[in-house]
This record gives sequence, structure tokens and C-alpha cells, in this order.
Amino acid sequence: MKTDYSKKATNQEIKERFDVDVERFSNLETGQQTTIDAPLTMELCTEAAKYANPQAANLLDIGCGAGNYTLKMLSKAANLNCVLNDLSMPMLQKAKERVSAQTTGTVTLIQDDMRNLDLPDNHFDIVLAAATLHHLRDDDDWELMFNKIYKALKPGGSFWISDLIIHESALINKLFEDKYDSHLEKLGGPEYRKKVMDYVHYEDTPRSLNYQLALLAKAGFSSIEVLHKNSCFAAFGGIK
Ligand SMILES: C[S@@+](CC[C@H](N)C(=O)[O-])C[C@H]1O[C@@H](n2cnc3c(N)ncnc32)[C@H](O)[C@@H]1O
Repeated sequence: MKTDYSKKATNQEIKERFDVDVERFSNLETGQQTTIDAPLTMELCTEAAKYANPQAANLLDIGCGAGNYTLKMLSKAANLNCVLNDLSMPMLQKAKERVSAQTTGTVTLIQDDMRNLDLPDNHFDIVLAAATLHHLRDDDDWELMFNKIYKALKPGGSFWISDLIIHESALINKLFEDKYDSHLEKLGGPEYRKKVMDYVHYEDTPRSLNYQLALLAKAGFSSIEVLHKNSCFAAFGGIK
């Protein structure tokens, strides 16, 4: 049976929320406050990319926001050509300003839904997608993106994801939802928790780690690696 996504946020609504949230996503030190272990997962994804692709020249950052992941990547691999994709132009403008100051490579902006990306084959050494794939909806969307990224990577290129995840069992899912609730309450009290959980429920449709690892294998990735998992967040990826 097909899941009904008609009550979920539209791309326009998601874009409008992020358009006015640029400052919050412009802090390289803290990354995203609501993401458990955000600095660690950013460090691990970019370190894994550096080890997998020491000679990297071309980077794609999907749902780049204000460019935190690309900036971290540039601190480990100098002068990459960077393709930055996001729905939000204010995010992209901020990302361009920050990224251009750190690379002599080209910086290309693509303002579009990631599903519409028309990418060259065998071109990128590294693809990063942080806290963004959870906006994908049905299985077709997820397969489309993983296949698209696989095709766009050079042989040996790598794809690293850091994201909100769900769990396969409803019981275990509840365990980690409760843990995430407590995490948010500790950060900002019950009102903050409610605000974050309201938009998570309205905007986000995350998938499990197992689902995404299987999708990496199905797309053709030869090495698939879990870098970190804590509660309902994970960092993982694959090498083509
Ligand atoms: C939570 S932010 C993360 C930003 C950045 N990756 C980081 O880690 O700091 C999610 C970003 O994904 C973008 N986004 C959401 N849906 C998208 C889509 N369908 N295509 C491209 N970008 C999207 C949003 O505009 C937002 O900037």
C-alpha cells in the first residue's frame, strides 16, 4: 500500500522555512543544534571522504544549507570545485560567500529540488548530503536519488550521509523518539521540544539506516560503511 504524503510539507513550505533560518545553519562549530552529535558526524563524513578520495577535485553538496559540510571538507581537501545544491536561495548565497573564501576552485550554485538535479556522469569525487535526504518522500524518490548520485560519482568516488533516521520496529522507534524528546527538552525546555517535533512531523519523512544501506547496495556501491549511529541520527555512506 502506498503511503499518503499529501499532509506533509510541500517543497515551497520547506523552502520558505529555510529561507529565514540561514544564520542558525551558518555556524561551523555547532553545526545543527537539533542534530545529536552534529560536530562528530560532520567530522567523520568529511574525514571518511578525505581517506576515500585523497586526490579529490570535484565535490557536490546536496541540501548544502549555508555550506557547513563543504567548508569542513575544504579544511581537509584544498581547492575543490564545489557544486552546491539547495532549495533555498538565501542559503545558497550564504554558502557561496563562505565557500568562495576557502577555495580557488569553481563554486557552482544549483537552486532546485534535489530530485531534479541533472548531473554529469562519472564526475564527482565526493558527494555529501547532511540533514537533507529526510525530505524525500516515497521509495521512488529515494531510489532516484541514490541512483543519480551513484551515476554522478567517478569510480572510487564516495557518498557520505549524515541524517535523522527511523527504526524498523515501532517499539524501538518509540524508544529513540522518547530519547530525542528528552534531548530536545534538555536543550531548550518543553516548548522548544514541541516546536522542533512539530516541524519534524510535518516536514520530514526519514528512513531507517537499514533501508538506506540496502539502497546503497542496490545502487551499486561496492563498500558501504556506517561511521556513527546514536539514537535517531546516523552517519554512513558508500564508495563506488
Ligand atoms: C537541515 S538543513 C541542513 C543544511 C546543511 N546540509 C548542513 O548540514 O548544515 C536542510 C537543507 O536542505 C534543503 N532542502 C530541503 N529539501 C530539499 C530538496 N528537496 N532539494 C534540495 N535541498 C533541499 C533545505 O533548504 C535546507 O537548507
